[in-house]
Amino acid sequence: MEIIVSHNNTDFDGLASMIAAKKLFPDAELVYSGKLHRNVREFMSLHKDTFNFRLARDIALKEVTRLILVDTKGISRIGEVREVLKNPEIEVYIYDHHPASADDLKGSLEVIEEVGAATTLLVEIMKKQGLEINSFEATVFALGIYEDTDCLTFTSTTSRDAEAVAYLLSHGAKLPVVSEFIDRPLSEQQKNLLNKLIVASESYDINGVKILITSGEIGEYVGGLALLVHKMVDVSNADVAIAAVLMDDRVHIVGRSHDRVVDVSRILAGFNGGGHAMAASATVRDGNVETIINKIKTLLQEHVRPEVAAENIMSAPVKTVTLDTTIEEAGKILLRYGHTGLPVVDGQKMAGIISRRDIDKAKHHGLGHAPVKGFMSRRVITISGKTTLPEIQHLMIDHNIGRLPVVNNGRIEGIVSRTDVLRSLHGEHYPEKYERIYNITQVSTGNGSDNLKLLMAANLSGPIRDLLGQISYLADRSGYRVFAVGGFVRDLILGVENLDIDLVVEGDGPGFARSLAEFLCGRVRVHNKFGTAMVILHNNFRVDVATARTEYYEYPAALPKVEVSSLKQDLYRRDFTINAMALTLSARNFGKLVDYFGGRRDLEEGIIRVLYNLSFVEDPTRILRAVRFEQRYGFRIETQTLSLIKRAIKAKMLAKLSADRVREELKHILGEASPTGAILRMSELNIWPFILPAANTDQESLSILKKLPFAMEFVSSTGGGLKLNTWVLYLGVLVRETGCRISLIDEKLRMSREEQRKMSELLCLCPEVVKRLSGRKPMKMSEIASAVRELSGEGFAFILAVAGEEVVTERLKNYLARAGHNKLLISGEDIKRLGYQPAPYFKDALDAVRDARLDGAVATREDEIRFVAEFLDGLGVSKIQ
Ligand code: CTP
Repeated sequence: MEIIVSHNNTDFDGLASMIAAKKLFPDAELVYSGKLHRNVREFMSLHKDTFNFRLARDIALKEVTRLILVDTKGISRIGEVREVLKNPEIEVYIYDHHPASADDLKGSLEVIEEVGAATTLLVEIMKKQGLEINSFEATVFALGIYEDTDCLTFTSTTSRDAEAVAYLLSHGAKLPVVSEFIDRPLSEQQKNLLNKLIVASESYDINGVKILITSGEIGEYVGGLALLVHKMVDVSNADVAIAAVLMDDRVHIVGRSHDRVVDVSRILAGFNGGGHAMAASATVRDGNVETIINKIKTLLQEHVRPEVAAENIMSAPVKTVTLDTTIEEAGKILLRYGHTGLPVVDGQKMAGIISRRDIDKAKHHGLGHAPVKGFMSRRVITISGKTTLPEIQHLMIDHNIGRLPVVNNGRIEGIVSRTDVLRSLHGEHYPEKYERIYNITQVSTGNGSDNLKLLMAANLSGPIRDLLGQISYLADRSGYRVFAVGGFVRDLILGVENLDIDLVVEGDGPGFARSLAEFLCGRVRVHNKFGTAMVILHNNFRVDVATARTEYYEYPAALPKVEVSSLKQDLYRRDFTINAMALTLSARNFGKLVDYFGGRRDLEEGIIRVLYNLSFVEDPTRILRAVRFEQRYGFRIETQTLSLIKRAIKAKMLAKLSADRVREELKHILGEASPTGAILRMSELNIWPFILPAANTDQESLSILKKLPFAMEFVSSTGGGLKLNTWVLYLGVLVRETGCRISLIDEKLRMSREEQRKMSELLCLCPEVVKRLSGRKPMKMSEIASAVRELSGEGFAFILAVAGEEVVTERLKNYLARAGHNKLLISGEDIKRLGYQPAPYFKDALDAVRDARLDGAVATREDEIRFVAEFLDGLGVSKIQ
């Protein structure tokens, strides 16, 4: 790999030289060695789509074979990139204009001449080679030379710099852009105006965003208002500054924003202005400054929405350990609280983080008694209480970490976990249940009593309690004993919501179901052969009803005993102790727990225990269920059960499962709130080769799987709460390497037509779309829209998680962010009103307007109508006479 690098704290000469070097070495990667100058950062934030820059830590420095250094040759100026010099074979090329120093690297190719800017040297080479330079590149190169020569005034400037600038101007370099971004001394008039603006400025706080508004009136036109506003932002530390100045007969308005929640271009759109989210301007002829300022204030109030920050979503206080806590102890705490990492504190100060993996490693070496300080990682990414939600999301995705400590003056104030982020994005809908159940005290709220009435009052919703009451009444009337069984009882004790009510009736299950349906004005579906039925209530709520199996009667003669033992036999056929409890619904013992196999104790201890040895042989899907419950609740599969599972897997029991059963189980597993743990556990137990050999669970898959929830959330929230098919997406990631060979997967899963269509979208269409989006050439929004036209929400999420190239994901994210606001303001009716007869070209015309909207070519309804009229005119379509 070849990389192009400039010095840390890159200025415009460094940046321009890098971009110029990329023209000479098109296959090389552009890599930042450290920070960017403030003005360069601002410039890049507007143009980051145009160039694909990468961070040193994101590339495999070991694989670098050629280092192309520009505007520097100092070893100490290239930060982490220095790592590449460890490779004895590395080739170094240098393009620099600085005088020699002791710190210098030696290059196998050196273009080092003392001109005013390094960019000059590269422009000369490009000119000699006859390389094409477009107007934008010429502007960037001119910025480089102007900045390092202070607009050709420094004594270090040579005639070669001036010639290079002349060459760039003849290739379309734009001086207004240069003067907007360059840090240049102000003229006397500008200084006066700046003073006026500072004196007149008023500071506002709108939803936590610091906003500076200023205005002025001066007789003659003074250029560079944008630069002055920019300086005001700098000196005042404001997040946003807006100035309106009357010069001659026009009011010039300029807005600058450093805050991602405030898009100044949207505010100045109120004055028909234009620009970017961070810099925008507008001009109003014959305007009144005061009226304009009032309108700006109103627009700001409407647009500046409060942004969620870490302090709003963090969990506090934080469970921490001290430097001297033993590895053993820390391990126990992690297990108990279900965390994957714990902050380590030294007194009040944050000292590091100890992770599950560090602990396992230490234990593996027999060092359980050692203190955590020797194993913790000291380089911890922390955030402050003010870090915003999008920033937190980025940090989690970029560094692949699930927990960010919130630190203030070195002291840990809280922690933000992936769950906190997801919950704040999903609001109420994010299931809290999988977290809460780690908390063992929750389980004991039943006070050990075998009557769960109290728990029912605390954990069940009103409608469910009412329904159980009605079932109880009917049970007594029919004379049957009726129980709720299985997952419903398990989750009631755990305090987890479960809306799947399974009833077992000692007697005639279908008969009871019919009377329940009648009583509650619902419908019933009966399977007489199995003695089962399903009652569907008016709100689509379903209750499954089964008959307790009578073939297991132990003592057919003794009726009461038979009744009890029949329930016991029914429960004994089930998978795990925690799923084999029953809740009595008959009035006499209403709420009484029936627990023959110690299910409640296993729940309290977090154990998955099978009921009998042949369970996994009889029903191999239980292997997958064991993994699912273990991961969902953070439980542990009991030793004997685990060895039965391993034996059943070795005996290839899973291979006996039908495609339908495998698919249904996979749907359950991959549809869980966070299925990645189960996916890994299945690969650890060697399950995948039997149920889906095409599944790949290597490190790369893992890192993609971890990105998937965020990708889905992004698509869902930009799509206004769009619901995505989670299991298909996880499946797609696992089998992404099979390419378009869907049949390979389908012969194992027999998917529905719709599922097959989705898979083929992910595996066949998405790679094509990625290819179209990864071009280096800048893409217009409408071009992106056309590339993604056939993608569904799942397709977008898939690419966001899978595509490695930042340019692709950025383009997609920008598109998604824009597309949501891209509703057309006109319809076919408006075209009719223009005098055209409805025809298929209406759709073409509306599509064209949509593209124009995306590209920012139209904004208002009038623009759209004008655009359509011109479009149809261009098509030569005639109007109705
Ligand atoms: N069951 C079983 N063996 C299986 C599937 C189910 O013994 N292969 C029993 C368990 O007692 C389970 C009940 O049937 O509790 C209901 O099954 P199901 O609704 O699939 O699962 P739940 O346990 O309710 O779990 P979930 O929360 O995933 O719905």
